Amino acid sequence: MAPTEALDVQPIDAALSEAVWPLSVEAGWNQNLADWRFMLGAGRGFGCVGPDGRWQASSLVLPLGQKLAWISMVLVTRDRRRGGVGTGLLKRCIDEVRSAGAVAGLDATEQGRPIYLPLGFHDLYPIARWHFDAASDVVQPPAGATLRALGPADLPRLALYDRPLTGMERPSILAHLALRQPGRAWIAEDTAGKTVGYVLGREGRVATSLGPVVADNEAIALALISKAAAAAPGPFIIDVPVVHRAVRGWLERQGAVTPRGYMRMTLGDAKGLDDATHVFALAGPELG
Ligand SMILES: CC(C)(COP(=O)(O)OP(=O)(O)OC[C@H]1O[C@@H](n2cnc3c(N)ncnc32)[C@H](O)[C@@H]1OP(=O)(O)O)[C@@H](O)C(=O)NCCC(=O)NCCS
Repeated sequence: MAPTEALDVQPIDAALSEAVWPLSVEAGWNQNLADWRFMLGAGRGFGCVGPDGRWQASSLVLPLGQKLAWISMVLVTRDRRRGGVGTGLLKRCIDEVRSAGAVAGLDATEQGRPIYLPLGFHDLYPIARWHFDAASDVVQPPAGATLRALGPADLPRLALYDRPLTGMERPSILAHLALRQPGRAWIAEDTAGKTVGYVLGREGRVATSLGPVVADNEAIALALISKAAAAAPGPFIIDVPVVHRAVRGWLERQGAVTPRGYMRMTLGDAKGLDDATHVFALAGPELG
């Protein structure tokens, strides 16, 4: 196997979405073509092609404002693993993030974490991936909060609400998710009409993905999650920081199972990224 230094790293643009999609399918991941097109259009992809012209590996850097960038879609085909390709692509992504003067963040799978630790990434908090078929138990919002469908006119205030609570600046991601599947986007407001939470969702290759869910408190988050799950076709996946026990309890009552988890990690310090208090579900490990 060629050493890392000799890796022929090539850019992946959105026009190549169909050619790289089999990488995430082989790994059993939920991304569909629309996800790849969006991510490669909004970020920068890097990968490696085999002698037969097929993509053997991918990686992606997605800016989340000027100070933070998300590294994701680090995938190497089974027969090319353990040869330094994953590490080589990671290094390429880190160079890209550093040259933009930003800090790198990511959500590591169990397989990815061993390559991120030696590169200097440190753990922030664990996240559980949950699968469930349907929501039988609808949770009413707490007194003083109401839910309604989220529309295009809500997007500016959604981004303003999201940023201080997540440490991420991601108006284009929120807009993409809210407009791609409008029936799955809900906003919570208090009696004065102030935003107190939201949930977005999107269709995926094998399941409807619920998230992000950001809210003032866990009671509002639960009402939003149960509303989104009642309004969209299952099965569902949702990625919940382990610290949120009431969400976990509700998911277990719906018969949800958690086959795997992630570790949120960062290389350097990103303000607010270590605080899961208001982050009840990720946009997804690939989007932050
Ligand atoms: C994670 C992944 C990208 C690693 O790609 P790779 O090309 O095999 O990684 P590398 O060869 O650079 O591995 C570097 C080192 O990490 C460690 N490592 C890699 N995979 C490991 C594993 N499954 N278990 C333990 N250590 C592992 C080893 O120390 C390895 O060095 P070595 O092979 O000399 O022992 C690949 O396994 C993959 O695509 N997995 C499925 C998708 C996934 O989980 N991606 C990560 C998303 S966060």
